[in-house]
Amino acid sequence: MANHRFIFALFQFVLAVVLIPPLAGAIPASVLRARHLKLPSELRDSYDFIVIGGGTAGLTIADRLSESSQSWSHWQGNASDGSANGFTAHQYNITSKPQTELNNKIVSVNVGFCVGGSSAINGMVAIYFVPPDPTLAADFNITYDIQAAWGQDRDNHLYASYPGGLDPKFKTYYNALKSVPNIEFPRDGHAGSHGVFWYPLSVDPKTHMRSYARIAHWDDQERPNYDLITGCKVNKILLDKHNVATGVQFVFKVDNTIYTVKASKEVILSAGTMHTPQLLQLSGIGPAGLLKKANIAVKVDLPGVGSNFQDHPIGPPVVFNWGQAPPTPPTNSTNMPPSEGQGQGLVAFLNLPVAAPDAYGTIAARYQSLDLARYVAPDTAPAVLAGQRAQQAIFAREMRAKRVSFLNYVVFPSPMIHPINFHITSRGTVHINTTAPEAEPVVDYRALTNPTDIDLMIAYIRFFRRFMASGPLAQYGPVEATPGANVSTDAQLASYIRAGYNPQGWHPVGTAAKMRRELGGVVDDELRVYGVRGLRVADASIIPTLVAATTQLTVYTIAEKIAAMIKETWERPHGHG
Ligand SMILES: Cc1cc2nc3c(=O)[nH]c(=O)nc-3n(C[C@H](O)[C@H](O)[C@H](O)COP(=O)(O)OP(=O)(O)OC[C@H]3O[C@@H](n4cnc5c(N)ncnc54)[C@H](O)[C@@H]3O)c2cc1C
Ligand SMILES: *[C@@H]1O[C@H](CO)[C@@H](O)[C@H](O)[C@H]1NC(C)=O
Ligand SMILES: *[C@@H]1O[C@H](CO)[C@@H](O)[C@H](O)[C@H]1NC(C)=O
Ligand SMILES: *[C@@H]1O[C@H](CO)[C@@H](O)[C@H](O)[C@H]1NC(C)=O
Ligand SMILES: *[C@@H]1O[C@H](CO)[C@@H](O)[C@H](O)[C@H]1NC(C)=O
Ligand SMILES: *[C@@H]1O[C@H](CO)[C@@H](O)[C@H](O)[C@H]1NC(C)=O
Ligand SMILES: *[C@@H]1O[C@H](CO)[C@@H](O)[C@H](O)[C@H]1NC(C)=O
Repeated sequence: MANHRFIFALFQFVLAVVLIPPLAGAIPASVLRARHLKLPSELRDSYDFIVIGGGTAGLTIADRLSESSQSWSHWQGNASDGSANGFTAHQYNITSKPQTELNNKIVSVNVGFCVGGSSAINGMVAIYFVPPDPTLAADFNITYDIQAAWGQDRDNHLYASYPGGLDPKFKTYYNALKSVPNIEFPRDGHAGSHGVFWYPLSVDPKTHMRSYARIAHWDDQERPNYDLITGCKVNKILLDKHNVATGVQFVFKVDNTIYTVKASKEVILSAGTMHTPQLLQLSGIGPAGLLKKANIAVKVDLPGVGSNFQDHPIGPPVVFNWGQAPPTPPTNSTNMPPSEGQGQGLVAFLNLPVAAPDAYGTIAARYQSLDLARYVAPDTAPAVLAGQRAQQAIFAREMRAKRVSFLNYVVFPSPMIHPINFHITSRGTVHINTTAPEAEPVVDYRALTNPTDIDLMIAYIRFFRRFMASGPLAQYGPVEATPGANVSTDAQLASYIRAGYNPQGWHPVGTAAKMRRELGGVVDDELRVYGVRGLRVADASIIPTLVAATTQLTVYTIAEKIAAMIKETWERPHGHG
């Protein structure tokens, strides 16, 4: 415990820099944990730590680095929620490159542009939770591991909870799923278990408001050792001639003036999957060929920066109509506040042997035999290709595994699905625009460039058709409305998929992957950028292959873990960044 006092002295000054749109001055007048700066003239000359990006990971890290272990009291806040409350406001304006395998479709890329980052605009699907109301739990068979549930720990200000009630029609689908051979019903969804379970949303059960990074890690009493400046866009990480990060350069958007600020210990880059690779590249850390094209001096030739980009793709819908609708099951759970219980309920996380019992072996064998050199982006560096081959070997095994989920879908209280692929095999890129490096990055999902992703989607559509035709729901006379039973051969299904595939499931990761450098990795096991000292990356971009889950809780976990590691580093008698 004595060590803690030592840490307080060291963690004097933390700065988080965040870019928010000028009009989002609508940050409510709640008390702020950080001193909220609005002008560069209010900055100190130097900080111990600079965190770039006040998003999901960045706010968590800045909070932990500036906290005093004595000052916690249970947070009972009721601050109004300044979040965008949906997918449209407070976002960057990014569009993808045309997707050649999707009939040149262009996707509008959604990323949060505010204090709170993407946690302020996301769909709030969470896997850990506060335990549900007992009546609801009995009514819908919601089971859980109380040790794993959140909201038990007084230092935790982030919540996920169940609503007061659920649509009783869910029960029809829950019960019908029991007929699928080898399906499981795990106690809960933590760790992305294979099977069918009820999921909560990141909503505070007391206030019924969105529980996200800004409320959990920023709104609170002011701390004298923590400044957060808004309205500033970092455009460079400053490196000295030994490649030690010494601070950041940023543009103050109000007057377009450039400023610099020094970090004496470390710079932590948490700008998210789209902007973290852009900032590394703007700072001279990235693929040498790309940097040269943009006239940026190469500091570290690190070809993996911006490659290995993945998101969970969402397939087109499969929709049935009932001949005669099943009766609505009874329910005792009527306590449903108006804002809750709408978009939440039940999910299926299915391994490939359960989703495609007759096809999984063929899909895995075909994938395993592909020469990836034919499917990666042009100009892919040998290290990056080696990393993708290493992933290929892992996923060829996992396609045959029992514990690894591939097919994911939200179970609607109606006869339809949008199949989601938890482990895509195509890999995209997020790179600077070489003619306008500080403009939004060029996002290319490279959707369906590996044909295995089509094989998987076809198998998922066929799973749902079998489920409807041969399970207990068959007695209600389901008739396929979309795409229609006549769309049945592989070729017909493939063209239906190309027309309706959404490469963006809002879980972008992988553009600054934690992998070995010779496999195209960008950061090491302590999230330090290869070839640079005093610079770590901590956000969704370090995730090397997508988790079989939504990503926000993984990001919070990465942030908590790295904050603890940073504290430990500087707690050592002769600690260095
Ligand atoms: C629409 C949507 C729906 C989602 N739904 C879910 C869901 O239901 N469940 C779930 O678990 N996950 C969901 N996610 C994913 C989850 O929200 C993200 O994985 C997570 O929030 C990413 O955190 P991050 O810290 O990596 O990035 P972010 O939270 O996006 O933070 C990045 C921050 O950096 C700032 N920044 C960027 N560039 C600069 C710069 N140059 N200078 C200064 N600041 C900069 C940004 O403004 C932002 O504040 C969703 C995401 C989106 C976008
Ligand atoms: C919470 O906010 C609501 C609505 O603004 C207000 O009516 C209520 O008094 C607040 N509760 C507390 C405990 O501050
Ligand atoms: C978004 O970007 C496009 C193209 O760069 C531009 O035409 C459009 O005006 C922008 N929209 C907003 C709201 O800034
Ligand atoms: C509703 O509650 C009653 C009384 O506890 C119980 O007997 C019944 O089984 C419950 N019904 C459902 C659908 O849970
Ligand atoms: C409830 O879930 C458990 C496992 O989580 C399962 O064993 C049990 O059969 C389920 N009960 C009902 C009524 O579905
Ligand atoms: C790069 O930026 C320029 C200038 O803003 C723009 O015209 C061009 O379309 C961008 N290129 C890509 C691939 O987005
Ligand atoms: C399937 O049938 C529908 C309606 O009859 C028709 O519009 C569609 O073109 C057919 N599709 C194929 C692939 O035959």
